[in-house]
Amino acid sequence: MTPVPAEAAKSINDAAEGRCDLNYFGGGPMEEGASNNSEGKYEKSGVLKSEYPYRRELFYKTLLEVLNPKIVAYLERLYQVEELLSLSGIISVGENQLHHVIRMLEMAASIPDSVLEVLKITGEELIAGVIFHDVGKGKEVDDRIFEASLVQKSRAPAYLRHYPGMNWAEWTVPFHNHIGESHQTAKKYHCSQKVLEAVALHHHVKIRPRTMNLIGDALNISKIVRLDIFHYKPAQYAAPGSNLAQVIAILDQMCAIEKKWFSGVFRAGTWNRSRSNMRWFVIW
Ligand SMILES: [Fe+2]
Repeated sequence: MTPVPAEAAKSINDAAEGRCDLNYFGGGPMEEGASNNSEGKYEKSGVLKSEYPYRRELFYKTLLEVLNPKIVAYLERLYQVEELLSLSGIISVGENQLHHVIRMLEMAASIPDSVLEVLKITGEELIAGVIFHDVGKGKEVDDRIFEASLVQKSRAPAYLRHYPGMNWAEWTVPFHNHIGESHQTAKKYHCSQKVLEAVALHHHVKIRPRTMNLIGDALNISKIVRLDIFHYKPAQYAAPGSNLAQVIAILDQMCAIEKKWFSGVFRAGTWNRSRSNMRWFVIW
């Protein structure tokens, strides 16, 4: 993928490689009178080590220990979409929703360009689809507020019904409310029509075997997980849609599967070939 040139990426790369230009990070000369450096509290330039430039370098180094470095080039894109930050305050089915987007971004950034070319998707489109697909999520799906008795069947909002299949698609509120909101936010940020369609269809697009296998090979997804994704909720994942929409849907499902994997559900021995047992997790 073509990386997005970004000051943030430079900062993190510098931190990762042990370079840290204190002036770049906003460091300045030590205040007059702050001369006691006997305990190593100050850098040569006079910046207090506990102050911002050092904390920022440490912050980036720490981030790189828990993030796939491949997403570094896209962090600035995340920063540009201010609505994304609110996802950090939403816990849905036990998962922080900003973390969900970051994890999807890690997977997306791992797909080789050659695979994207076969699917006729650009890296920029894929990253935009990931960034915006859930950006409209709000408190209605937060575990601490969610009210099961309010769940009901509904219809897609009128402004989405021109997308293929969306005038008859299974639509459940409040789970699917965010699709409309995410679509409107993506539109506000002037996303392409292809990205808007992917956002609109990411819970309803029919995943084709060719797309599943290309992404499955690229991300080393096991056969049983591919089958599980491919057959999940056939009545809901039924709308015809682009390769981009399908890839976003696949990555979204992969995150849900992975979340349960790390939560220990598989290790507890519930993983088997029975459909009823395989689908204990929820994908909204
Ligand atoms: Fe979603």
